[in-house]
Amino acid sequence: MPIVTVTNMFPKAALDKLETHCDLRINQTETPPTTEDLKKYALDSMVIVTYLSDKIDRDIIDNAKNLKLIANYGAGFNNIDVAYAAKKGIWVTNTPAVLHETTADLTWAMILGAARRIVPAERFTRENRFKGWQAKMFLGGDVYGKTLGIIGCGEIGSAVAQRALGFNMRVLYFNRNRLSLEKENALNALYTSMEELLRQSDFVTVHVPLSKQTQNMISKKQFLMMKPTAYFIHTARGKVVDDQALVDTLKEGRIAGAALDVYENEPALTEGMIELQNLMLLPHIGSASHETRDKMADLVADNVLDALAGRSPRCLVPSWGK
Ligand code: DGY
Repeated sequence: MPIVTVTNMFPKAALDKLETHCDLRINQTETPPTTEDLKKYALDSMVIVTYLSDKIDRDIIDNAKNLKLIANYGAGFNNIDVAYAAKKGIWVTNTPAVLHETTADLTWAMILGAARRIVPAERFTRENRFKGWQAKMFLGGDVYGKTLGIIGCGEIGSAVAQRALGFNMRVLYFNRNRLSLEKENALNALYTSMEELLRQSDFVTVHVPLSKQTQNMISKKQFLMMKPTAYFIHTARGKVVDDQALVDTLKEGRIAGAALDVYENEPALTEGMIELQNLMLLPHIGSASHETRDKMADLVADNVLDALAGRSPRCLVPSWGK
């Protein structure tokens, strides 16, 4: 039977779906595989199911003898050298269309959390420092009726815009391609340049994938275009943002606050981040709901079954073979 290796923890229902179709090798522990482990998996597996933390580079791919598919358990796939895999005829898949609503929910939790200083206020209360109502305690910014700027308006950005309708917000967006007029109208979203978006928005949220074009696209120059009362929210990919520039901007009080779910050198934080009280720090949990993780795993299993049956898998990443 073909070997399918699952590199990290994976939901049981999805494993059950695969079980009778292959020789399943699983790592159901909290310990991620080393590079050497990944090389070994590549050597004898027909399929590897990977996490974002598994870096699948040329070295690993060159070790593959029988590998047909790298099935990433996530929508992003910047951990895999897709061009090289494609050159070697190895399929790469991801999990689109199942996690955007969940990630948009978290983005909104961060927008509201940053504006209303939820985390420091909760900490303050938990530390038993709440001694009675005060007019100036934990003042934040309003969200309702403000301007939201969305950089990258694909599945996730659009789901974030959709929620803004309920907050009666003016929505500006910047995207590689302009959306259809119909979609713009449905989302009540105005297409602008990135500069206009940065200058006018009260909340700026980033939803672009990581690519050569988007790496470090938000740096000091962009932060300095933002209003001093604005908030910056980031749930996309760490390397899209220059984290040191964000720390400096916040330290200098040039914007009101920020919330991050991803980091430039993830999982390492940039020095100075943990001291900043107006910076919310989350551990990359954008798609982390029970329901969505199960849906993602089910989709991974379907892709694996496609490959085992010799079919082109249903979720080939968009850049595969291009
Ligand atoms: C995703 O699906 O891209 C998440 O960020 C986890 O990789």
